[in-house]
Amino acid sequence: MVSIAIDGPAGAGKSTIAKHLAKKFGYIYVDTGALYRAIGLYAYEKGKNTASEQEVVPLLEEIEVKLAFVQGEQRVFLGERDVSQAIRQPEISMAASNVSAIPKVREFLFDLQRDIAKQNNVVMDGRDIGTVVLPDAQVKIFLTATPQDRARRRYEELIQKGHKVDYDQLLEEVIQRDYNDSNRAIAPLRQAKDATLLDTTNFTLEQAVQAMTELVEGKL
Ligand code: C5P
Repeated sequence: MVSIAIDGPAGAGKSTIAKHLAKKFGYIYVDTGALYRAIGLYAYEKGKNTASEQEVVPLLEEIEVKLAFVQGEQRVFLGERDVSQAIRQPEISMAASNVSAIPKVREFLFDLQRDIAKQNNVVMDGRDIGTVVLPDAQVKIFLTATPQDRARRRYEELIQKGHKVDYDQLLEEVIQRDYNDSNRAIAPLRQAKDATLLDTTNFTLEQAVQAMTELVEGKL
């Protein structure tokens, strides 16, 4: 099986580029952030403090997270409930970042991610795919861009979907999430030693996709 691991901070364009690559190569696109978001959503809806290990860990006993792939599109489920839309609410981003720093949460999601890559050719994106989840991935890319550029992209994406958002608040959140994700004790966001760095600041989406496609083709 072939695995392409794409890591990087929020808003670097990972999912858009990964989806494009998956389509091009006929692989499954796995968005691992959706799993952390599902756990964040569950804890948030239960009124828990998502940053509290004591409050979140007991929930893992009752949470059932599943991924399904419908015509190449990933759907995420909490039990029988399809939460693919609900996890995209802006307030769930921070909840996901909070729960993702809890070691037992990461452990809980580890096998699920590994098993998908054992059974399918995948383009998998996240924060620790090249470093922890799929250290033997054939291709590893670390995708980044400045916080301002990433906040702008997120802003445009959310506005287009009809959300009411403020650029400055999004920028602050991007910086806060970068800090959380890069400084947690377990599986922090960092470039794998054997990953190729791609900085997409000031790239149009087409340019980013093109650069990435060439990079992957050169490695496969
Ligand atoms: O990628 P996305 O922004 O949807 O991820 C939401 C949060 O989930 C991230 O801010 C990060 O804290 C966490 N995450 C993670 N490891 C992954 C994927 C996401 O810790 N592999």
